[in-house]
Amino acid sequence: MKIQSIRGVKDILPGEVEKWQWVEQIAAQVFHRYGFKEIRVPIFEKTGLFARGIGETTDIVEKEMYTFTDRGGEQITLRPEGTASVVRSYVEHKLYNPPGVVKLYYAGPMFRYERPQAGRFRQFYQIGVEAMGSGNPMIDAEVMLMLMEFFSRLGLMGLELQINSLGCPACRPGYREILKDRIRERLSSLCPNCNARYERNPLRILDCKTPQCVEIARDLPKTKDHLCETCRSNFAEVQSFLDMSPFAWSINPLLVRGLDYYSRTTFEVKSEKLGAQDAICGGGRYDSLVEEFDGPPTPCFGFALGMERLISIIPFEGPSTVNRKPDLFVVSLGPEARKTGFQLVQTLRSKGMAVERDYEEGSMKSQMRKANKSDARFVLILGENEIRENKYLLKNMQDGNQTEIHATEAGLESLFTLLGSGETP
Ligand code: HAM
Repeated sequence: MKIQSIRGVKDILPGEVEKWQWVEQIAAQVFHRYGFKEIRVPIFEKTGLFARGIGETTDIVEKEMYTFTDRGGEQITLRPEGTASVVRSYVEHKLYNPPGVVKLYYAGPMFRYERPQAGRFRQFYQIGVEAMGSGNPMIDAEVMLMLMEFFSRLGLMGLELQINSLGCPACRPGYREILKDRIRERLSSLCPNCNARYERNPLRILDCKTPQCVEIARDLPKTKDHLCETCRSNFAEVQSFLDMSPFAWSINPLLVRGLDYYSRTTFEVKSEKLGAQDAICGGGRYDSLVEEFDGPPTPCFGFALGMERLISIIPFEGPSTVNRKPDLFVVSLGPEARKTGFQLVQTLRSKGMAVERDYEEGSMKSQMRKANKSDARFVLILGENEIRENKYLLKNMQDGNQTEIHATEAGLESLFTLLGSGETP
């Protein structure tokens, strides 16, 4: 019976996975420099966490969550994003004690029941960061610049950093009413989706992709022109910090994001190489979420980037970090060599060498062919002759030189020296 993978998910096979490992490694290096530490949160949570955290009227909560009742009758959801879980964990473990800024990052799969297409999956991976405990606009700028530095370390050029401000609970309700007033007379020209959003989430009308709505949105009032004094000066400060960096940015007054927890600065990074799903990364400030989950007032700023989209536009492959080529390929012939070879392979691996062999135990010629194909730096030949004379024959595959090594402690030591250190045992 042939069973295939589910629509909208993908396997990451050896060959591609090295690129993922390299990206994750660079992310950790760059994030550590800015003081971020890794957190690992569960892949499923109580449904209420996401419903309340992300917002009951968002597309994610209304249409896209993988929700099920477990055998104990609990409503469970596979996480559609990481922020809500990190906030839950922050409150649950009182990470606000001692007071200060807590900087966390995470990487892992997220699940959304969306219509699969290029760059849009039902299981996709994110790398995300959350800086929790400061409303200083310096944090907004630092975190966005950290992201841009990370992209530049990966060799990515031509990305667009777009920012906006969504205001705060003091100024957004007033703006919302002004927006609704202006939309009211044009409702019949908007798409059915935007008609449904009008009462519940009118800001989302600004970033609808339907052509007739795009046209109308252009003339609608924008959040950034209706900010209170605090939000305005805050946004101006973010911009002045960004201006001190080498990275280009612009204001996109139509950027509203699809999750409800945002206030003040929001942003996205886009690449024209991506087609319709052009956002590699999105994020912003969320100053009330921790309080909503019964934590102390804790302004936060974070982002998450989509790994599949990022990987698809990385211009070169990084060096392999974990999937190593073998240091040595052991060729053995005959029943005695078979046993000695087995033991030797185990000893060398336990000392940190990556060692491969031929499990079909074919002829000398066929084993050598496999050794060649494996790209091992050295081949160790163990035939009946070698067993009789208590030695190994070591061949350097780069220059073809052969060395005889005695099968003694001292011989083994010289073998380690010749092979180099391998990984630290
Ligand atoms: P988001 O914009 O929903 O934000 O997702 C962030 C990124 O995840 C997107 O820019 C995109 O690259 C990727 N992504 C989203 N959905 C899919 C999909 N179906 N297939 C492939 N990639 C996808 C968040 O998730 C927020 N939690 C970000 C955040 C963190 N805000 C503050 N802190």
